[in-house]
Amino acid sequence: MQEKIISGFSKLTKAEKLTWVTRHYVADAEAAAGEIAGFTHADERLQQVLDRFSENTVANYPMPFGIAPNFLINGRVYAVPMVIEESSVVAAASSAAKFWLARGGFKAEVLSTVKLGQVHFTWSGDPARLRLAFAELESRLRLDAAYLTENMEKRGGGVGQIELIDLSDREPGLFQLRIAFETCDSMGANFINSVLEQFSATLEEFAAAHPALQPDGKDLVVIMAILSNYTPECVVRAYVECPVDRLAGACKELGPAAFAEKFRKAVRIAQVDPYRAVTHNKGIFNGVDAVVLATANDFRAIEACGHAYAARDGQYRSLSNCTVEDGLFRFWADLPLAVGTVGGLTNLHPLARRSLDILGNPSAEELMAIVACTGLAQNFAALRSLITTGIQSGHMKMHLANILHHLGAGEQETREAIEHFRDKTVSFAAVREFLNSFSGNAGVVSKAP
Ligand code: MEV
Repeated sequence: MQEKIISGFSKLTKAEKLTWVTRHYVADAEAAAGEIAGFTHADERLQQVLDRFSENTVANYPMPFGIAPNFLINGRVYAVPMVIEESSVVAAASSAAKFWLARGGFKAEVLSTVKLGQVHFTWSGDPARLRLAFAELESRLRLDAAYLTENMEKRGGGVGQIELIDLSDREPGLFQLRIAFETCDSMGANFINSVLEQFSATLEEFAAAHPALQPDGKDLVVIMAILSNYTPECVVRAYVECPVDRLAGACKELGPAAFAEKFRKAVRIAQVDPYRAVTHNKGIFNGVDAVVLATANDFRAIEACGHAYAARDGQYRSLSNCTVEDGLFRFWADLPLAVGTVGGLTNLHPLARRSLDILGNPSAEELMAIVACTGLAQNFAALRSLITTGIQSGHMKMHLANILHHLGAGEQETREAIEHFRDKTVSFAAVREFLNSFSGNAGVVSKAP
């Protein structure tokens, strides 16, 4: 076990790191090191850019970078870049985009853009004294952070409301400053956290000196200051709507009215049952995350926030809604999406920069709209399959193609296999067996799954 532990790993060169980790953790060390190193970018300058995004890097981990075209959103057509490793997702988004292209397209409306930060602190004194001094504290906080907020204010953003929140009924002496921020086209994490750290210093200094908080003002202790990734006031609504009879063509199996009603019920199930809601929302995030990742935004923050938002009334529910009323089909999702189009990696990652280029260099609000519509499209496509053919036929086609490629099937074998598996269950073993028995097959199949 001892030999698997190392100190000073970060000081090793990239090649040394790779040699060390493969020697100590992999059976075929040399082959593994070679394979991993093979994912290093040929352009050294580009590789250095990528290496700077993280630590202890030994290579790159490529993900497919796809495009879902024909997205009509608020009257403008987009080709949406998506980074995702799951088959069918880009195809599903593209097919939903095309379906709605002929029915007025997607619409989106940004409902709010407020982000939040918190300074958590403890103080054992009387909360009433804190409240008394709060107006003065607030002016000091704003003044002391002016050097940080000046530029953001010039762009139309900055610090909004500052609230004092008393949590001492949940934990003795616990309080927080909850601060609203407008961060314009940036996601704003660095800006918010810098302001919060300045606020922390000001708060402690203020408490130690202010007469109303003595003699125990110096006992006020900041526990931590950090933005909140829960942004229920940074929300975009994405929607599609059309007369029910315009849904003709949504599927072969059902007429438009039956389709609309079955679809509405499918959404309703995810409203009332958390087990279904998680899978349903996962489908929405298939679309959301793929665009968030393509534009180098923070998909962990977006996911964490989205799921908390889905449970905001105490039960985890669908993020999308559907109504069928007076002959009108409406399908929409309100999604909290704190994304940016400047700052962070958005302009540093070469492919994120190109993704934004492809999207016409949108503002953060426009990107919120695009991301939300892609999520809604994904949800529409998933439900459309689920309530009609099921998702496996589509998935299995992709799966079959991947297996055939993996097994090195030739053109004719591929054609025959696709025909053969049209009405059969696809599995690795079944495809291998089929290829082995394929007439004229000279034994293509050697690789293990
Ligand atoms: C698979 O990645 C996503 C779905 O399960 C979503 C859903 O069930 O709505 C198809």
